[in-house]
Amino acid sequence: MELESLVRRAETQVFEAPDLDSLAEIERGLVGKKGELTQLKKTLGSLAPDERRAAGQSLNDALGQVVEAVQVRRKTLATAAEVAQLQSERLDLTEVMSNERRGHLHLVTQARDRLEDVFVGMGFTVAEGPEVETAWYNFEALNIPEWHPARGTFDTIFVDLGEPEEVMMRAHTSPVQIRTMENQKPPIYIVAPGRTFRTDTADATHLPAFNQIEGLVIDRGIGLGDLAGTIDSFVKAFFGHDVKTRLRPSYFPFTEPSAEFDISTPSGDWLELGGCGVVHPAVLQNCGIDPEEWQGFAFGFGIDRLAVMRYQLDDIRELVNNDVRFLSQF
Ligand code: DAH
Repeated sequence: MELESLVRRAETQVFEAPDLDSLAEIERGLVGKKGELTQLKKTLGSLAPDERRAAGQSLNDALGQVVEAVQVRRKTLATAAEVAQLQSERLDLTEVMSNERRGHLHLVTQARDRLEDVFVGMGFTVAEGPEVETAWYNFEALNIPEWHPARGTFDTIFVDLGEPEEVMMRAHTSPVQIRTMENQKPPIYIVAPGRTFRTDTADATHLPAFNQIEGLVIDRGIGLGDLAGTIDSFVKAFFGHDVKTRLRPSYFPFTEPSAEFDISTPSGDWLELGGCGVVHPAVLQNCGIDPEEWQGFAFGFGIDRLAVMRYQLDDIRELVNNDVRFLSQF
């Protein structure tokens, strides 16, 4: 009877053990060397031999019951511990990081892309040329021989290669006109955006490395009216239909007649955008094109300046300072 209640108490203790460590302690206290039940074995010796058998049997049964209870509880606690560990070490691979930041194209790249889109929409293709040029492409073929005073106005950055002043950073995108006419038969309808370089010191309105876009059309029966109409269409597509254009007589060695083209501002002023004109017959001849059969027009203007106008920037240097606070506005 005493043994039975001892076993019941032991089982309760075992099944209430909160973790494996305390279970081990309880086990030791019950069936360990000096455990309560183990100690009872020693009392068997004091019993009469015929009682001893039955008592020994009951004690063994009791021991077996307690040992089994400990095993069951140990298994439960071990499983729970394993689950808890898996939970705590769990890696959620589906987790979405929310702090990723998305960039965007630079203001000048956006302007160039839009210009290309507008001209491609008008039937032009996009041409390219190298940023380092020879005197032939940068000047001579464009009807600017060595003695020509216009050569000085380009503030050219020369490269220390070949004869002095033979190799240079291109001072404008006009050399792409020559490269295209040398390689392609008319009719030609191209625009050529790209970087250009001059010895200018950077200030609010100048950058020594800047971007231009050149346009060239060569076809039969092309004249000044086609030029004016093309510029007007492009300006309206790019700036909006309220913006007007005008041509002002000017001088460039590679066009005749030559003009500067302006766009109107909301306040009623005119802003100069670039140069243009009817391609000079000498330029066509330099590229092996017969000026009696083919005529054309060309134009060129600064893309950075265009971005400055469109976004009303105070200082063109903002475009190259790379201050994220400025750039992320666009
Ligand atoms: N290349 C000239 C410059 O950078 C701009 C220019 C003027 C380009 C007249 C042209 C043109 O194609 O016809 O100053």
